[in-house]
Amino acid sequence: MKEIMERVREKTSIPVYERTIENVLSAIQASGDVWKIVDLSEEPLPLVVAVVTTLSELGHVAFKDGNVILTESGRKLVEKYGIGERKDYTCSHCKGKTVELSAFSDLLEEFKEIVKDRPEPAHQFDQAYVTPETTVARVALMHTRGDLENKEVFVLGDDDLTSVALMLSGLPKRIAVLDIDERLTKFIEKTAEEIGYENIEIFTFDLRKPLPDYALHKFDTFITDPPETVHAIRSFVGRGIATLKGPGCAGYFGITRRESSLDKWREMQKVLINEFGVVITDIIRNFNEYVNWGYVEETRAWRLLPVKVKPSYNWYKSYMFRIQTLEGSKGFEEEITVGRELYDDEESSTT
Ligand SMILES: [Fe+2]
Repeated sequence: MKEIMERVREKTSIPVYERTIENVLSAIQASGDVWKIVDLSEEPLPLVVAVVTTLSELGHVAFKDGNVILTESGRKLVEKYGIGERKDYTCSHCKGKTVELSAFSDLLEEFKEIVKDRPEPAHQFDQAYVTPETTVARVALMHTRGDLENKEVFVLGDDDLTSVALMLSGLPKRIAVLDIDERLTKFIEKTAEEIGYENIEIFTFDLRKPLPDYALHKFDTFITDPPETVHAIRSFVGRGIATLKGPGCAGYFGITRRESSLDKWREMQKVLINEFGVVITDIIRNFNEYVNWGYVEETRAWRLLPVKVKPSYNWYKSYMFRIQTLEGSKGFEEEITVGRELYDDEESSTT
């Protein structure tokens, strides 16, 4: 185990623990599909690649017909350490989302119909949207937490078209939505006209710029889906918090394990708790499920993978965080001074 860890450390600066190797070996026993191995191991993709490559160098795994398989020596290794196959007993009714979707089945059908003509993800903006079931589950979740009905809701970045599902729900008093991509803001505008929804303000805006005064301290609830870096959590979630009126407001955002180690999670949580003074009330595992995006072969993940197979199912998921503001909570209203490191770090791989 020591030798494996030392070799992995030569390949990556992402922290590696015995638990990391165990997670990957456990996942390999459950599936030979590299995407599924990342999914099940819940380690960042570049780290999984470093572990799998090391295991292959040491003869513990082999690559066969696009699959990762344990060799005889690999089987001895897992037996020696008592590492079993990773099981998945996620609730099959709600798929682990914790909310009842059937109560929103009409909304889901309407939403699916509307988003048929949605703009496809643009690599330039690192876009990747969630399944319609995920978007509607967000409405169910936010409503369950008392964050939608007669509330003023801000959607910061909306390639998921959450604002459309919010309009269809008729729950918020007012919706504001911004996105850098004019294709999306135009689509949302057109949809609002078609369904005759008037309490929505739509802006084409680069969130790297400080929000204008009319957006600050005016909302009850925000939702955003930031890139997976500590800088991005500070900047984009911080901007979200800055839109909130004061104590007792709520924010929602996704953070993944696919591109973030738990060490990075700890840094992100420090930003939330120490810098912004908010409290984390919910973390729902794999709540957000993303539809595979068309530009996978242009991503770092593709370049890293030892076997080049396209994902056969929605492997990319993120945990849904809900935070609430308390006395003394504050957001981030400054200029963003970092460049590309806002989007990329050692652990990211989908840009
Ligand atoms: Fe369930």
